[in-house]
Order: sequence, then structure tokens, then C-alpha cells
Amino acid sequence: MGTESTTSLWTNEFVPQLAPLDRNESADVCVIGAGISGLTTAYLLTANGQRVIVLDADAIGGGETSRTTAHLSNVSDDRFQTLERIHGEKGSRLFAESHAAAIDRIESIVQEERIDCDFQRVDGYLFQPEAEPLTAFLEAELEAAKRAGHIDASFLQSPSDVGFAIGSCVRFPNQAQFHPLKYLSGLVRALRVLGASVHAHSRVQHVQGGENAYVQTKAGYRVTCKHIVVATNAPFNNRYVLHTKQASYRSYAIALKIPAGRIKGALYWDTLDPYHYVRLQRLEKDKGYEEFLIVGGEDHRTGQEKDPADRFERLEAWARQRFPMAEGVANRWSGQIVEPVDGVAFIGRNPMDDDNVFVATGDSGMGMTHGTIAGMLLTDLIEGRENPWTDLYDPARKSLRSLVEFTKENLNSAVQYFDWVTAGDVDALEKIEPGRGAVVRSGLHKLAIYRDPEGGYHQCSAVCPHLGGIVAWNEVENSWDCPCHGSRFAADGTVINGPAATDLPKTAERELLQEAQVAT
Ligand SMILES: Cc1cc2nc3c(=O)[nH]c(=O)nc-3n(C[C@H](O)[C@H](O)[C@H](O)COP(=O)(O)OP(=O)(O)OC[C@H]3O[C@@H](n4cnc5c(N)ncnc54)[C@H](O)[C@@H]3O)c2cc1C
Ligand code: FES
Repeated sequence: MGTESTTSLWTNEFVPQLAPLDRNESADVCVIGAGISGLTTAYLLTANGQRVIVLDADAIGGGETSRTTAHLSNVSDDRFQTLERIHGEKGSRLFAESHAAAIDRIESIVQEERIDCDFQRVDGYLFQPEAEPLTAFLEAELEAAKRAGHIDASFLQSPSDVGFAIGSCVRFPNQAQFHPLKYLSGLVRALRVLGASVHAHSRVQHVQGGENAYVQTKAGYRVTCKHIVVATNAPFNNRYVLHTKQASYRSYAIALKIPAGRIKGALYWDTLDPYHYVRLQRLEKDKGYEEFLIVGGEDHRTGQEKDPADRFERLEAWARQRFPMAEGVANRWSGQIVEPVDGVAFIGRNPMDDDNVFVATGDSGMGMTHGTIAGMLLTDLIEGRENPWTDLYDPARKSLRSLVEFTKENLNSAVQYFDWVTAGDVDALEKIEPGRGAVVRSGLHKLAIYRDPEGGYHQCSAVCPHLGGIVAWNEVENSWDCPCHGSRFAADGTVINGPAATDLPKTAERELLQEAQVAT
């Protein structure tokens, strides 16, 4: 599985873990990243006869797809009123149409490949928290949704069949849900039958587009290819352009055991910002089938929360207030969400790069469908077909109408560089509790010091190799998180999430630790 400390409800036992790349290879397309975006793209290309190699840095399906809550929806989580303001009525319609097509495509892949992944069509409900009477907002959202093509959506007042006090809400039929890792497992199985190669533990460090395109792994092996798809959630090959147009957030989820049949199986979202999201999942456990209520939310910018564990408590309190029948918490986990400033993912040619390098990023909280759209759209672009969604998802797009969101997120990133001149988190190394990390100032340096459970110190530079932000300790996942653009590193400094392509530097270790001890 991945490198995180918490575990989600989805166990990875279904997903085959395949050998690392151990020689140079060639392919028509090299796909980097084996989450839903990379594997869907690889599957659709392979099904069309392309020779495809997939490389993942870690376990197959061990990235954010293993930490999702897997709502499959074509209802914008930034709301249709916002989409319409930024992308116009046509853009909003294309958005709803493309996400509906993604759900249909998942359903058809499930049927064709006979993937047993609990795929189910359900209704979706957008509801207002009772304390806030926002009926006017919901009514305006319903109108915008109808203009986007949701002709069957309807306004309801306290429907009695959902099993909890939902209040005013808009119901969207024909949404869906599934078990994300059983689905990925089916994609990997199909890929292998169709002749594609999939390799775990094969981190890519260099991507070279153009006539002699190739991808180079950290272990030194090359895949020469005609096209490259970077589907790593946050692209490590694009240092600047995309990361000014999106921001990384941590989102939190808990799964509570719940008596079967008490709550209607559906997707539920409230209208708060950040919003809460809820669904049910039935799973086979030791004692037979059990039902779980999955509740998510409490998002914050990555690396900018001093007390992330508190988010779980807030989430549980929110859930227990509305679902008093819920029993114990079975799982708690957090994950990364990459939010585009204009509410739409970036899928297409990598800006300022060769024409044969493609990216899929900026998934927002709709990465299951955005990842599937990536597969459909990139297959068309690579095979030279026109696709009506190309402009909407174009990674090079600029929108003056999202200037407010763009400025807000970039100012937030810029402010994080003040961490260079602040003091460290602790003024003495002994104050770092075993099993935790802290940033310590040492003269002009800032060090990321991790104290292992036995009390030993491990240190690397606290300076993020992407663009020099100062990382912060994440006590929920035992990782170093960069507050600027969301890169994440394991306790020992090994890179987990981009945009950083490399580990936290381990320069002059002994000297720096000695300096820190003198300084504290
Ligand atoms: C708590 C939470 C709840 C969510 N809920 C929903 C939801 O209900 N509905 C929804 O649609 N979306 C949801 N999302 C979003 C969704 O889960 C993600 O957007 C989606 O899983 C991203 O898929 P991906 O394939 O792009 O990335 P990932 O699944 O992260 O896959 C990327 C892969 O790239 C690999 N990689 C990274 N760098 C390299 C490298 N240098 N070389 C090789 N491989 C590399 C990683 O190891 C990883 O396996 C949620 C996310 C979170 C965190
Ligand atoms: S992620 Fe950009 S500076 Fe760290």
C-alpha cells in the first residue's frame, strides 16, 4: 500500500502488485501513475491497440485513489453557479455532460470487463445545513444545474425517505458509487490480458518529449515512446505554470459502522465551503456483510493546519449530530485534493512542452470522473481525434473570470515563504516527542527533524526542492507537507506527492544537526 499512516476503508488486497521495471523498454505510450487517471488512460489506449507501459512510483492504486470516498457524480462540487460565471453556460453544460459520460464509461467498462466492484446507480442530494436557511441559494443552484443539462433535478423540502433530517435539498438522479480499488484491480487485470505492462515501485524522475521521447526512472531505466502521459495527480514535470492555477488541500474522511437499511443509499453533499460529503458502503467483513457510513470534509490547504487531528473530531461531531444511529468509527484517513482555481481539471497537452507530453491534474473532489474523462480525452488527443471537451479542460487555458480565485490562492502560497524568517517549531530538540517531527532553525538553515519512536533523531533540510517552501510536520500522516504547492515527503524525507520530483535534501547531515543542538 502507500506511505500514509492512516488507513482508508478500502483495502488494497484486490490490486495485483507488479514487479518494478528492470530493463529499458519501448512503447507507443508511457503512462506515469497507476491511479484511476493513469489506469483508465492506459486501458482505453490499449483497448484501441496501442502498446502501453504504465509506471508507478509506489504500489499500484496506492495514491489518492485509495483514499477517495468514490462518489461518481456529474454535479459540480464548486456549484454550477460558479462554473457558469467562469466558463459560461456552454462550459457548465460541457462539464455536466463530460462527467455524465465518465459515469457511463465506468459502467460500460464494469460490464465489459465483468468487474465486481459494487457499482451502483444512486441519487445525489445537495442540502443546506439546518442552521443556515439558504433556500434561495439552492433554488438558484437548481436553475443553474438545469441550464447545465440536469433537467431531472428537483427541489425537495425535507424528504421523508432518506432516513435523516436533511431539510431543503436538490435531488440529482442518476449519480453512482463503487469500490475504487476493486475497480482499479479490474482495470489492471484487463490491461494485462490486453498485453499492456504495468510496473509498481518504478519512480520516474525525468520526462523528455519531442521526436526522441523517453521517460527515465530513478533506478536508471528508460522507456522510449511516441507519447507520454503524466497522471501523477500533481505533475512533477511542470514546475510553474500549472501550480499557479491550482492549490493542494487535505481532506478528511471517517467510516462509521451503521445499522443496515436506516439511511437511503445515496450521495449527500452540504452547501458549506468546504462542504461535507456522505455515502454508504456495504462490505464483507469477518462476521458477514456490514454497512458503513462514509463521511468526508473539513478540508484545509496542505501544510497549513497546526492541529490536523482535530479535523477528525469535528467531522465525527458533524456526523453524529445528523446520524445519531451511527455506531463506532472503523476507519479515519486523510488525503490530498488538487483544486483548480476555476473548478475544472487540467487535462491535455502539458503547457510549454513538446506536443507529445500530456498531463491530467486539478481533479478537485471529483477525481473519479475527472480521471475517467482524462482517459477518454487523452485517448482522443493521442489518436488525433477531435473531442468537444478539449478547450474546457485545456491545461493552457486562462480565464480572467477566475482572477479572484487565482489571486487568492497565489497570495496564500506567497505568504508561506515568510516561514523562512520565522523561528522553528521548538526551541530544543528534546521537546520533539518520539514519533513526531518538528522544524528547527539552525543559523541560516531550517531543518526537518524527525524523532523516531526509540528517540533517535533523523534530519534533512526543511526546504522543499520544488520552489523552496518550508515544510511542516503532518502528525496525522507522519509526513512533511509543503504549504506552498502541496508537495509531501515521508518522515525520512522521501518524496510522496509532487510537484517536487526529488526527496528533501540530506546535505551535511552531521554538521547541521550539531548546529541545531548548539542553537537550541
Ligand atoms: C478524502 C478524499 C475523498 C475524495 N472523494 C472523492 C469522491 O467522492 N469522488 C471523486 O470523484 N473524487 C474524490 N476524491 C478525489 C479523488 O480521489 C482523486 O482526485 C483521484 O483519486 C486522483 O486520481 P489520480 O489517478 O489522478 O491520482 P492517484 O490515485 O494519486 O495516482 C497517481 C499515482 O502516481 C504515482 N506517482 C506519483 N509520482 C510519480 C512518479 N514520479 N513516477 C511514477 N509514479 C508516480 C503515485 O504513486 C500514484 O499511485 C477524494 C479525494 C480524497 C483525498
Ligand atoms: S511544493 Fe512548491 S515549494 Fe514546495
